[in-house]
Amino acid sequence: MSNTKHKAFPEHFLWGGSTSAYQVEGAWNEGGKGPSVQDVKQLPEGTSDFKVAADHYHHYQEDVALMAEMGFKSYRFSIAWTRIVPDGDGAINEEGIQFYQNLIDELLKHQIEPVVTVYHFDLPAALEEKGGWDNRETIDAFVRYCDILFDRFGDKVKYWQTINEQNMMILSGAAIGTGSDSMQKTYQQNHHMLVAQAKAMKHCHDKLAEAKIGPAPNISITYPKTNKPEDIQAAQCFNALRNWLYLDMAVYGRYNHQAWAILEANDALPTFEPGDEEVLKAGKADFIAFNYYTSGTVEAYPVGEATTDEKTADQQKGQGIPGFFRQVPHGDLEKTEFGWEIDPIGLRITANEIYSRYALPLMITENGLGGRDTFTEDGKVHDDYRIHYLREHIEQMQLAISDGVELFGYHPWSAIDLISTHEGFRKRYGFIYVNRSDFDLKDLSRIRKDSFYWYKDVIASNGENLK
Ligand code: BG6
Repeated sequence: MSNTKHKAFPEHFLWGGSTSAYQVEGAWNEGGKGPSVQDVKQLPEGTSDFKVAADHYHHYQEDVALMAEMGFKSYRFSIAWTRIVPDGDGAINEEGIQFYQNLIDELLKHQIEPVVTVYHFDLPAALEEKGGWDNRETIDAFVRYCDILFDRFGDKVKYWQTINEQNMMILSGAAIGTGSDSMQKTYQQNHHMLVAQAKAMKHCHDKLAEAKIGPAPNISITYPKTNKPEDIQAAQCFNALRNWLYLDMAVYGRYNHQAWAILEANDALPTFEPGDEEVLKAGKADFIAFNYYTSGTVEAYPVGEATTDEKTADQQKGQGIPGFFRQVPHGDLEKTEFGWEIDPIGLRITANEIYSRYALPLMITENGLGGRDTFTEDGKVHDDYRIHYLREHIEQMQLAISDGVELFGYHPWSAIDLISTHEGFRKRYGFIYVNRSDFDLKDLSRIRKDSFYWYKDVIASNGENLK
């Protein structure tokens, strides 16, 4: 049954926007910052590096003023580990601390709530050299880094997220500069991150009575290709491995049984060290932040059958494990020009599914449309396709709220143009256009897109005016 009576968005709903440090800041070697895996990784051919990005490091005041002009209630950004601890586990870099103090103060000056992600794909390169997430010492380095953040910013930051899209790092590491060829090694890394996250959540609660902390995976519902029981079962498996593994752990402190069985069947079970079980149980999320761009579709994948779709560098495509599932195109959904399916109703379904499993408040930390925007001769950017995408997703958010889901924030990706994970600067998501191209930095000036004015009205009307 369809619920057509819309409930209003709650009062104090956090309307905002989202970015990540390495994709927006630039200044990759300034202010005492150390290199991260993103600064040293091999780039996909024909894409720009992350050295300047949107140069937010030097433009943050102007950028925050533009966010304030849009009426942002909150801003979801990440802190670069390598600005705070340049080599990951050594000396603290006070200049880096100061940068984020300034940014947070600037936000608060404009009554914008900071929503902080601790770690968004940018592991310190020095830790990667010591084995990265293969090495259990990275757990200690992460927890120490989190403690520094809680101590230094805890008086001003109420909302924290641990690790951005840990599930995508595990499933599509190649896109993001992480992962390993061996499935067991990859899930051992995953286990270490889960232990690190649980410890960080516990430390946050011990140190900061008022703070709220949660995970920030990419959660999207997977559909079966047909109503054949085999396909439905395949979808259940992929949902378990892609989605519930991460949320069962963050909320209940245990591995999802079906995900565990898939790992076992593939000789990919992680090894537990003594104490891990207790640590995982002790880490409790206060809310669930999740990123949603599109849904997925899978079909059964009989063992021995040749694969049709190789693993790709794209985080939304190409997953498959013989005997369990393989990702296929949906068939009926439109796509963005970068080939991502568009499924606003999938957001409502996903939000309901998460809420009915975990009954915790939800915050959307990413959602948006990547496109090749054009800066037109009239000095504008007419991104009606983005407005259309966001409008349809906001409508579905409102329906999810009407269904009874406790949704308290929305942070489209991205507040401002920034560099895509693997498609360079040409794939833009922002409300604010940054005047540069992949290989020409131009003047990096900021231009309000049509979506900027549209979103401003959405926020001013608390989601009532979506025209
Ligand atoms: C999410 C990430 O996977 O999707 C972001 O958290 C990323 O870092 C965003 O930029 C969009 O993906 P892409 O590949 O288009 O940049």
